[in-house]
Amino acid sequence: MPERSGHGPTAGGVPALLGPAERERAAALAPGPRAAFVAGRLALRAFAADLLDVPASELTTNFSCLRCGTGPELSHGRPGYTLRGKPVPLALSLARSSGWILLGAVVEPPAGVTIGVDLEDPARLDFDGFDALALTRDERAALAGLSAQALMQERARLWARKEAWLKMTGEGLVTAPNTVDVLHRAEIRDLAAGEAGLPPNFRAAVALSAAGGA
Ligand SMILES: CC(C)(COP(=O)(O)OP(=O)(O)OC[C@H]1O[C@@H](n2cnc3c(N)ncnc32)[C@H](O)[C@@H]1OP(=O)(O)O)[C@@H](O)C(=O)NCCC(=O)NCCS
Repeated sequence: MPERSGHGPTAGGVPALLGPAERERAAALAPGPRAAFVAGRLALRAFAADLLDVPASELTTNFSCLRCGTGPELSHGRPGYTLRGKPVPLALSLARSSGWILLGAVVEPPAGVTIGVDLEDPARLDFDGFDALALTRDERAALAGLSAQALMQERARLWARKEAWLKMTGEGLVTAPNTVDVLHRAEIRDLAAGEAGLPPNFRAAVALSAAGGA
C-alpha cells in the first residue's frame, strides 16, 4: 500500500494511537523519515487489529529484539502486540521502500513460525559496491553478464529475499548480508510483479519459517 500518515489525534505531531516507545522513536526522526515510520506503524497496527477483529487502540506494542528482549518499551525489532496483557496470535512483518509499505502476517502461527517480508525499489540499488557489500560469491556469479536494467531488477529481487530472510530469523543486518545466500531457499517466495498492489517494477519477497524452526 502507498504510505499515508496523519491519522487520528496527534501528540507532538505523532498520532496518539501509537504507543509511547513508538512516539518516542518518531519524535527523534526528521520529518520525512518520521512520516514514513508513523505511516508504517499505523498500517501495521490497523492490519493486526483487523486480523484480530479488535480496535487498534486496544493493542499494545510488543516488539522483540534478539539482543534487547521483548516488551512495550522496545521501539525496534520484530513486530508484535499484546492484547489485555497477552501476546496476540499473529506472526507479523513490515517493510517500507520509496513510499510503499508491505505487511505480512500468519494468523494463529504454530510454535516457532515466523515471517519476514521485504520490498525493494530497484532504483535504490544502483550504486557501486552494492554487490560486494550485499551478495555472496554465488549470488554475484548469478548476476554476471546481465544488462543494466536486468541487473537492477535482479539485485532488488535478491535483496528483498535477503531482508525477508533476515527478518524471518530475527537477525536483521547484524548478520553480514554477503554471508547469507538466498538464491535457493525453500522458505522464501518471490512476489510476482505487481502482486500485493505494489508497483510492477518493485521486487518483493516473503520468508516463512517451518513450524518448530527458527
Ligand atoms: C531488519 C532490517 C534489515 C530492515 O531494514 P530496512 O531495510 O531499513 O527497513 P524495512 O523497511 O525493510 O524494515 C523495517 C522493519 O523491519 C522490522 N524489523 C526490524 N528489525 C527486525 C528483526 N530483527 N527481525 C524482524 N523484523 C525486524 C521492523 O518491523 C521494522 O519496522 P520499523 O522501522 O517500524 O521498526 C534492519 O532494520 C535491521 O537489520 N534491523 C536489526 C538491527 C539490529 O538488530 N540491531 C541491533 C539493535 S540492538
